[in-house]
Amino acid sequence: MILANPHFAKIQASYLFSTIAARVREFSAAHPDARLIRLGIGDVTRALPPACVEAMQKAVGEMGADATFRGYGPEFGYDFLRETIAKADFQSRGADIQADEIFVSDGAKCDTGNFQELFAAGGFTIGVPDPVYPVYVDTNVMAGRTGAAADGRYAGLVYLESDEANGFVPAPPEGQVDLLYLCFPNNPTGATATREQLAAFVDYAHEHKALILFDAAYEAFIRDESIPHSIYEIPGAREVAVEFRSLSKTAGFTGTRCGYTVVPRDCRVFAEDGSKVLLAPLWQRRMSTKFNGVSYPVQRAAEAVFSEAGRRQCRELVDGYLANAKLIRERLQAKGFKTTGGDNSPYIWFNTGMDSWAFFDKLLNEAQVVTTPGAGFGRCGNGYIRISAFNSMQNVATALDRICSIL
Ligand code: MLT
Repeated sequence: MILANPHFAKIQASYLFSTIAARVREFSAAHPDARLIRLGIGDVTRALPPACVEAMQKAVGEMGADATFRGYGPEFGYDFLRETIAKADFQSRGADIQADEIFVSDGAKCDTGNFQELFAAGGFTIGVPDPVYPVYVDTNVMAGRTGAAADGRYAGLVYLESDEANGFVPAPPEGQVDLLYLCFPNNPTGATATREQLAAFVDYAHEHKALILFDAAYEAFIRDESIPHSIYEIPGAREVAVEFRSLSKTAGFTGTRCGYTVVPRDCRVFAEDGSKVLLAPLWQRRMSTKFNGVSYPVQRAAEAVFSEAGRRQCRELVDGYLANAKLIRERLQAKGFKTTGGDNSPYIWFNTGMDSWAFFDKLLNEAQVVTTPGAGFGRCGNGYIRISAFNSMQNVATALDRICSIL
């Protein structure tokens, strides 16, 4: 008989954002007149930058004529986009990343989830932050690299606790951890890591023959110039780190889908006999087997993100969300809440002093505002709520008026 993957039985029945969506659907069905404001999942609300729309329309036109039509594209992305990204996102910041080390994909969620396929089925230790973006954990659970869950934690994982005491930036672990997931600016806490904090992880990875999977999906929100946008701004990172980038929040691509993963040529893992194994050929092999590339019009739209007009428009887009974040932060602080994030990040994280899900329900029922309960991101998220700045300024202001009136 055909057997199911038994590891799915260990996992929470539904993905966090699906659970929230189900609760919201239930609320809406019971209260059809409620005017809900969504500050939950980090989904952008403003239109694509005009430069991207124009580029995409032009590319669609090319696809509509035999002379300019394109079939399968290169699996790792068109050179025009890989070269643009390498220059604009990395070389311009002094990070030595070349075009052939950029792998264009349909987004950072997919890549952070898929990347673990390159590692052994077990026999090494995985470290994840707590609170954590659930994809890092769930994909390893599905792959059978953990034991069962108890009290919100899976046996076999090392949890790097992030809390108010460490400013939501954990130090490298004490003992041996072989694979480390990091995300800065952080989802869900909005915390950012300094150069020194990232350098400590890079040193750790060298000393412990570990690998860092660095999720930089929110780097476009960094406005403080002292904060690194890429782990490759840290000397020595090329050999020990893979970086994930996304245009979802940078350029409003959540529905358009385009991201990229950087796997430097010299980035390595190890074989059982201790010899080095380069990761880039493995990722290339995986992509060419399982992926046929991002569509040509989307890659042209992505290229336009880095044009002069595109950069200006994306900055305005992100600035708009950052203005929302500032408002959320200030209004919550005025109510006496201690907040994290919201200055170099679209997420504001705060301690509610009560159970996260109860607070989520209170905001949903009494203010008709959708947020994300911190407990859904791990044990250290208990008591916290994440508010996302992705909405119009008017909706954010209305949501805050409603929230402040019930607190
Ligand atoms: C979030 O709300 O955490 C993100 O939107 C999820 C994602 O990007 O997949």
